[in-house]
Amino acid sequence: MDQTPPAKAPAEAPGHRPIPVAPPCTLVIFGAGGDLTKRLLMPALYNLAAGGLLDPGFRIIGVDHNANTDEGWRQNLTETMQSFTTDRTSEFHPDHIDPKAWGFVRERLHFRQGDFTAAETFSGLAQALSGNVIFYLAVSARFFGPIVDALGQAGLLKEGTDAFRRVVIEKPFGSDLASARALNARILKQGAESQFFRIDHFLGKETVQSILAIRFANGLLGPVWHRDHIDHVEITAAETIGVEERGAFYEPTGALRDMVPNHLFQLLCMVAMEPPRTLDAEDVRDEKARLIQAVQPVQPAQAVRGQYGAGQEHGHAVPAYRDEPNVARESRTETYVALELAIDNPRWKGVPFYLRTGKRMTDRVTEIALHFRPPASSPFATPDAPVTPDVLRFRIDPEQGMDLVMNAKRPGPRLDLGRVTAAFDYGDFFRETPSVGYETLLYDCLIGDATLFQRADSIEAAWAVVDPLLEAWAEAPVEPYAAGSDGPEGATALLAAQGHRWLPLGEG
Ligand code: BG6
Repeated sequence: MDQTPPAKAPAEAPGHRPIPVAPPCTLVIFGAGGDLTKRLLMPALYNLAAGGLLDPGFRIIGVDHNANTDEGWRQNLTETMQSFTTDRTSEFHPDHIDPKAWGFVRERLHFRQGDFTAAETFSGLAQALSGNVIFYLAVSARFFGPIVDALGQAGLLKEGTDAFRRVVIEKPFGSDLASARALNARILKQGAESQFFRIDHFLGKETVQSILAIRFANGLLGPVWHRDHIDHVEITAAETIGVEERGAFYEPTGALRDMVPNHLFQLLCMVAMEPPRTLDAEDVRDEKARLIQAVQPVQPAQAVRGQYGAGQEHGHAVPAYRDEPNVARESRTETYVALELAIDNPRWKGVPFYLRTGKRMTDRVTEIALHFRPPASSPFATPDAPVTPDVLRFRIDPEQGMDLVMNAKRPGPRLDLGRVTAAFDYGDFFRETPSVGYETLLYDCLIGDATLFQRADSIEAAWAVVDPLLEAWAEAPVEPYAAGSDGPEGATALLAAQGHRWLPLGEG
């Protein structure tokens, strides 16, 4: 691995091709007044406009229950965009808002008040819309089915020979296998699979997409990406934030449904899928589906659930989950989950994949670590001290890069080993493009590239893996862990039973 970063200002990577402007389209956002629209969709549209990727014929219609006007909505969003410049905690924190790029978006914003369950909302839209349309469901999951039904009934999903009609559906897509199947069946009555873009924002993260490039564009790694060389794999998405204001959503959801069959399984696919034949959406999605179908359903003995108690987060006292707003005092909802997955295919048979995710943990870390087997025989090994195995780590968030932790000779007269890290950081090699993670996803939807969206079969296969747990956990207790810790003791024991240990969170 090249440890020498290039000269200070990174040049654009070779092979960088100009990106074409997306076709003209109307983006209809259901949930125009919601958090997702403000925090992520508008910044993403702004970044796309700043990059010159939106057509002058692009426009946005926001639909919401609450009353507003075109000018009122424009003003609200302008204020929110400005507020990001002083909010270092938001996903989007530019130094300033470029008036030209925001002006492009702002003047294309139109507002319609509408009840998501009333036929008039959709007949009104049918009159206002022609040509290409994307319907973005930035709404609570209970509206997904009714909105798609109403779009279909109003004829809004009929595609012309030269006009597309697409629907973007946010997560959570179902709450178990039966409800995900029912929702797929329901929406597929109103349109074709190719019209539905089930979004998972983890796939908008550059570092997640890049795993495919690192795995499949380098001859070095392919031959060792296999059970013969890899002992076990850890996938972690640890957060320091608590449940915040989302108690009402989180209580019936919990960490398993919120993070595992969607976000963590996307990371699992990236690291474990077979090489797709081409990078076409269907080839990539076929391999992902095949991988998830090979994951064995998880049994309760292979899983741990925890809930944070009161503790310290970076020096501040923070409350227990049960004391958060809209959370039951006796709540048994998990805010942490750890699983051991087995993949029944020739590449991974016998290699445990450990997944963990939790709120209020020591550090914010999203990463994948592949633990290699030690050399079959090494002159450095002794019967009491085998050589320490190498670890390859994809750092996804908030650090972005890759490390290989390996052995080298310590300087000095003896041949003693020391641990070293060969590290690569994206920022050293590539010019960063401002992104909140939704830019690529929105752009791909505009150009009709479904590679980064989830197909019905993958979603159902993922729910099938966790379904036995959902059933078993309905009545099970949760193990407490202190806020600001690495999670419950049961998670340590889960790995210790196999002679393994989680990497400490945030270890650089
Ligand atoms: C969301 C979950 O989908 O992903 C949240 O609902 C979680 O609970 C978030 O905090 C994590 O995403 P990121 O990009 O901040 O790691």
